[in-house]
Amino acid sequence: MRCLFFITFLVLLHNTMGCNDLIHLSCKKAAASDPNLSYNFCVSSLEAIPKSHGADLEQLVALTLNLTISNATSINSTISKLLLDKKFDKYAKECLQDCLELYSDAVPTLQEAVGAFKAKDYGKANIEISAAMDASSTCEDGFMEKKGEVYPLKRENDNFSQLNVISLAFMNTLGH
Ligand SMILES: *[C@@H]1O[C@H](CO)[C@@H](O)[C@H](O)[C@H]1NC(C)=O
Ligand SMILES: *[C@@H]1O[C@H](CO)[C@@H](O)[C@H](O)[C@H]1NC(C)=O
Ligand SMILES: *[C@@H]1O[C@H](CO)[C@@H](O)[C@H](O)[C@H]1NC(C)=O
Ligand SMILES: *[C@@H]1O[C@H](CO)[C@@H](O)[C@H](O)[C@H]1NC(C)=O
Ligand SMILES: *[C@@H]1O[C@H](CO)[C@@H](O)[C@H](O)[C@H]1NC(C)=O
Repeated sequence: MRCLFFITFLVLLHNTMGCNDLIHLSCKKAAASDPNLSYNFCVSSLEAIPKSHGADLEQLVALTLNLTISNATSINSTISKLLLDKKFDKYAKECLQDCLELYSDAVPTLQEAVGAFKAKDYGKANIEISAAMDASSTCEDGFMEKKGEVYPLKRENDNFSQLNVISLAFMNTLGH
């Protein structure tokens, strides 16, 4: 009886460690492949998704893509609100307008990436994700072109681009 409990305990321990291991190992590998990705960000973003526990690598990519889509949608609505804020000058408003368009377009692009990923067309999914990811750098570039402009979307853009790096890196592991 005691032995049975012990075995049950070992099996449970193994299972809990097993599912966290995949997130930790995959995030470690992904962070090593791209200096712009923080290991802690990767682990905390994935562990915050309830369905990530016990998920395999393929499911983790699908979950990350969904999280990225909801991020883009939320950034889009953040930008709509910023556009109403009087503290921004004309130049900043034009930049924000460009950013709005970029993030709005990123949503259907990422949805196409989900379709391609499900069809195991990793090449196409990679192109779509990379295109969506450009939204953050192109948005930032607009603000950087004029000296003294405050860039109001830094955290949002960083999060969004790191989520895309996670999808790309995990998918790269799957493709090999
Ligand atoms: C990291 O981010 C910077 C700034 O966005 C970019 O220029 C650089 O290419 C990125 N590095 C990689 C490996 O993606
Ligand atoms: C966007 O991603 C960040 C980083 O994982 C997360 O903390 C945040 O909850 C996400 N927001 C939405 C609306 O998905
Ligand atoms: C991603 O979101 C779609 C639409 O909300 C949902 O149908 C799908 O089950 C989600 N995928 C995962 C892996 O949770
Ligand atoms: C982004 O916000 C604009 C303005 O509020 C809205 O028209 C557009 O439908 C939004 N796009 C997405 C993908 O949510
Ligand atoms: C960025 O991601 C971090 C880590 O998940 C989160 O704590 C923070 O709220 C996010 N910031 C924004 C603006 O989404």
